[in-house]
Amino acid sequence: MNKKTIIITGGFGTIGFALSTSLLKQGHRVINVDTRVNKTNKLRDNNDNLFVIKANLNKENEIKKLITLCEKKFKKVDALVHCAYPKTKDWGVQLKKLKQKSLNENLNNQLGSTIIISKYIINLFLKQNHGNLILLSSIMGVNNPKFETYKGTKMSSPIEYSAIKSGIISITKYLAKYHAKKNLKINCVSPGGIEDNLPKRFVKNYKKQCNFKGLLDPKDVVDAINFLLSEKSNFISGQNIVIDDGYSL
Ligand SMILES: NC(=O)c1ccc[n+]([C@@H]2O[C@H](COP(=O)([O-])OP(=O)(O)OC[C@H]3O[C@@H](n4cnc5c(N)ncnc54)[C@H](O)[C@@H]3O)[C@@H](O)[C@H]2O)c1
Repeated sequence: MNKKTIIITGGFGTIGFALSTSLLKQGHRVINVDTRVNKTNKLRDNNDNLFVIKANLNKENEIKKLITLCEKKFKKVDALVHCAYPKTKDWGVQLKKLKQKSLNENLNNQLGSTIIISKYIINLFLKQNHGNLILLSSIMGVNNPKFETYKGTKMSSPIEYSAIKSGIISITKYLAKYHAKKNLKINCVSPGGIEDNLPKRFVKNYKKQCNFKGLLDPKDVVDAINFLLSEKSNFISGQNIVIDDGYSL
């Protein structure tokens, strides 16, 4: 890949951090945007290509400020990968305990803010005559959860997560078609679950649904994103790439 300038939102999270690390190793310039910037030093080790910006992307004025700043400072932005994942404190409660206030907040922040950040970065891409936007959906946006996987654990897959993540796939297709013939590449990826100290019982149940690995490592998702960032995917548009070791089959 030629050296690119890439914004990663949620760049200190599970996927964002692994992606930042990979892109910095490849020599790209990474603008890492997050509400928390706690692992900056780990990422900065010997790297002048890293820029860290603290911003709350649930707020339109902060999105606007971010894009204006990047335009001024870097002159061009080649890609944005939207890994930010804003959740309420009660995220993940069972359906019978779901409250309208937190439902609205999660829909607004996870789905609404994705539309708003897409709008601002695409405006910049249109000015530059090129750009690559990658959104993050999930296998829960593709298929229903396999509820049996959660048996014997306190975990659940929220109904609003399914709504949000299928919404992200629709947004991707809409934006790609709406901006056809403008030299933009807009796609999304749908990862399966990623191993993150999850209960043993869940890990075992989950693996039964997969081909051989079960829960993924962040790197498995990063590989697919790297492909979408590269010229090798230049004619892939409005697509959703599922990375799930066969879980959703
Ligand atoms: N981890 C998984 O198992 C998994 C599986 C499928 C899909 N996904 C999707 O991938 C994306 C990233 O997931 P993750 O596991 O890396 O999440 P994560 O929670 O590990 O990281 C998300 C990051 O976003 C940041 N963030 C939260 N609110 C923000 C805001 N308002 N403004 C800016 N930054 C904000 C957080 O500080 C955090 O660093 C999400 O869309 C998620 O749904 C994750």
